[in-house]
Amino acid sequence: MRRFTSVHDVMNVNDILSSALAYAEDPWLTPSLGHRKTLGLLFLNPSLRTRMSTQKAARLLGMDVIVLNAGSDAWTIETRDGVIMDGAAGEHMKEAAGVMGRYCDVLGLRTFPGLVDRAYDYAESVLESFIAYSGVPVVSLESATRHPLQSFADLITIEQHKTVQRPKVVLTWAAHPKALPQAVPNSFVEWMKAANVDLVVAHPEGYELAPEFSDGVTVTHNQREALEGAHFVYAKNWSSYSSYGSILNTDPSWQITTESMARTDNGKFMHCLPVRRNVIVQDAVLDSDVSIVLDEAANRVVSAQTVLAAMLRAL
Ligand code: CP
Repeated sequence: MRRFTSVHDVMNVNDILSSALAYAEDPWLTPSLGHRKTLGLLFLNPSLRTRMSTQKAARLLGMDVIVLNAGSDAWTIETRDGVIMDGAAGEHMKEAAGVMGRYCDVLGLRTFPGLVDRAYDYAESVLESFIAYSGVPVVSLESATRHPLQSFADLITIEQHKTVQRPKVVLTWAAHPKALPQAVPNSFVEWMKAANVDLVVAHPEGYELAPEFSDGVTVTHNQREALEGAHFVYAKNWSSYSSYGSILNTDPSWQITTESMARTDNGKFMHCLPVRRNVIVQDAVLDSDVSIVLDEAANRVVSAQTVLAAMLRAL
């Protein structure tokens, strides 16, 4: 595997899921696969889980790891082409990616969308330029439109917790005070479409995901109906795609509560984290046995290890 930016970079989802379940069973399955190989991680935006889990995954494979945070322990990086660099950025992505590619065998990049220019964000301009100029395999640590390591971890978690062969999975929007990217819901939908689940997406009007993600998906504006019989409830806020980056709705009734979960079929609560308590989800849900958010976070190590292992095997 030369790039991991979406589910479309995976040849066979069942095969990579089997590989992940083997690493979940035994994290030290291939401790020397990455011997004498270096992983470089560049963060243009903050992270807790992705930063820690990807480093841990690399070390389980025997890799060395270098982590850089643009704008603090590395230069602020200019990502646009053809600009006069007389502002805050001291280095261009062309050189930064090129240099990192000389030092590292595999690279990872986190780059959030600006949520201003939809065409620019959805072209994945920053991630694609990093891939082009680095010259080595690249794993997305969350990009403008997708968060594939998170979605892969979510799929692993569903596989581990499911009680029926084909579970009902509900992705539901919930209100949030800040405008958030569509990357997590886009990616979750994309991976669930490739999995053996019945997916329903619930959101208020105006929060339709981009057609490339929502096509063929059951969508409703009625969260109560969607939750009936659900085995997994995945809550997430996202800003509008059509009115790009806008907050159109602040209705707190979309929050997941114990009453919401009571409509499900012993449903499990999921969220990628970080989550705002008593905004997205009630304390009573998050602190109960129905919450599997920590298992999801733990599986971020498994998803990263599986992807890095596939990249190492292809070097
Ligand atoms: N879920 C997730 O990616 O968390 P971080 O932003 O903390 O990495």
